[in-house]
Amino acid sequence: MNFKEVIATALSENCPLSAPEIEELLEVPPNPEMGDYALPCFALAKHLRKAPPLIAQELAEKGGFPEFVDHVETAGGYLNFFVDKSFYVAEILGRVLEEGARYGSTRQGEGKTVCIDYSSINIAKRFHIGHLSTTVIGNALKHLYTFLGYRVVGINHLGDWGTQFGKMIAAYLRWGDKAQVEAGGVDALSQLYVRFHEEAEKDPALEEEGRMWFKKIEDGDETALSIFNWFKELTLKDAQRVYDMLGITFDSYAGESFYNDKMDRVIDELKAKELLVESQGAYIVPLDEYNLPPCLILKRDGATLYATRDIAAALYRKDTYDFDKCLYVVAYQQNLHFSQWFRVVEKMGYPWYKDLEHVAFGMISYEGQTLSTRKGVVVYLDELLERSVEKALAIIEEKSPDLDDKEEVARQVGIGSVVFMSLFNNRIKDIDFWWDRALNFDGETAPYVQYTHARCCSVLRKAGEWDKGEVDYGRLCDGEALEVVRLIEAFPGVLQEACQRNEPSLITRHVVNVAQAYNKFYYEHRILQSEPGEKQARLALTWSVKTLIASALGLIGVAAPERM
Ligand code: ARG
Repeated sequence: MNFKEVIATALSENCPLSAPEIEELLEVPPNPEMGDYALPCFALAKHLRKAPPLIAQELAEKGGFPEFVDHVETAGGYLNFFVDKSFYVAEILGRVLEEGARYGSTRQGEGKTVCIDYSSINIAKRFHIGHLSTTVIGNALKHLYTFLGYRVVGINHLGDWGTQFGKMIAAYLRWGDKAQVEAGGVDALSQLYVRFHEEAEKDPALEEEGRMWFKKIEDGDETALSIFNWFKELTLKDAQRVYDMLGITFDSYAGESFYNDKMDRVIDELKAKELLVESQGAYIVPLDEYNLPPCLILKRDGATLYATRDIAAALYRKDTYDFDKCLYVVAYQQNLHFSQWFRVVEKMGYPWYKDLEHVAFGMISYEGQTLSTRKGVVVYLDELLERSVEKALAIIEEKSPDLDDKEEVARQVGIGSVVFMSLFNNRIKDIDFWWDRALNFDGETAPYVQYTHARCCSVLRKAGEWDKGEVDYGRLCDGEALEVVRLIEAFPGVLQEACQRNEPSLITRHVVNVAQAYNKFYYEHRILQSEPGEKQARLALTWSVKTLIASALGLIGVAAPERM
């Protein structure tokens, strides 16, 4: 049962607002002494032309509340509802026991498709932590939308287009060695690129050679394409290691070059709709009416741009997947880019431009240092993850020397810590990565939550068999236990909000709250040594917490080890 919804429906009988509107207004007071739910009557004052305290008073007198409402009280302009606790606890935990890992999932997305463009790494560049946020936010959203019943298409929109690839081919053909590049992978490619620039300073003719090779890629020349595709393979092989560590998969790797043969459609359509304007030999779509600089579509030499490719990709995705929403998980530095080309799609007359959404996030720095290739502050993601696993292993060796599968647990904790930390704050905030914060077993971290999960598993293991049908919920109606139940109740709503705002951090924070509340309960109460009725009830609570933590961590892409 959705308590808010039922209360709102009852209230709507005596109110000028609809049940959903009232549900929207209903709050959970910060302090349970003020009730389990509260209706602030201020919003009703305008409709009823009465003072809020009077409205609260009158609604209280009219009554007609659901049976589970034990009593109501008024306080200022608020009408506070106190629900029957044993009914409440039975209702919430009963549902978790029944639904298990599905608790909080819905079918609201049935028949709807969401495309998520995330990670979207660049070819011939090694995967560094600048691409961490997009990768883990996108993955979390993918899990979340799937949990809410949507079909999700995860797209890695590879950055595999641009003149730099022509230069890289030119450099490879001059100085490269097949075996060496094969072995060196993406690092060898970067070295070739650096060499190209060094040599081009001495010999400007090289630039022309680079351009020629790029032109050849564009024209589909076989030699050029086979070398380029090999570069791509090498990069993806490198990236795949990181994706495997993170447990991340994609449904499509159609990147920028995939749209080569889909450019004419964009240009032709823009021309036919009279949106394209010549400007100093280039072609643009002016966006004055939105107070934005024009969107550059074609360069003077006829080459298309990043934005042109994004427009082509959006048209293609709409045709191919018929999405209801298409999300772009990309750093806020690209705000302008997205607002520009979204507007171009709007001007093209596609009503679904409204379904395109830029899910922006902040920058990441490393132990107080801004990342900069030029200054040599580069942190590669595979190295970061490996180091995190090593550090986790050292901590585990110390804390739990007898643990069976230390290596595997260290992997789950080490990688989980990095992911968790990236998903802890509102995505738009900049992140500063610090080792001691990410791996702190007592902080708001993956290890803390994972440890709580393992603790629950351990309690349940020691308890052996217990009967889910025989739970006396009346024993969980106050204090620490009730606090835990309240947070469990809130979980489905948290998922809804996380989805509406494309904000996985809400899940991360909530699971920390659940873990903290459970640990308080755990320190205050015996579980295994309590009397049988109490024990059953406390085991039910423990089982619910274990299930919810595992499911929440799963949604954000973090593993939940059973022993730690
Ligand atoms: N490859 C780009 C970068 O690393 C991100 C691409 C994002 N996706 C898109 N459709 N523009 O900055």
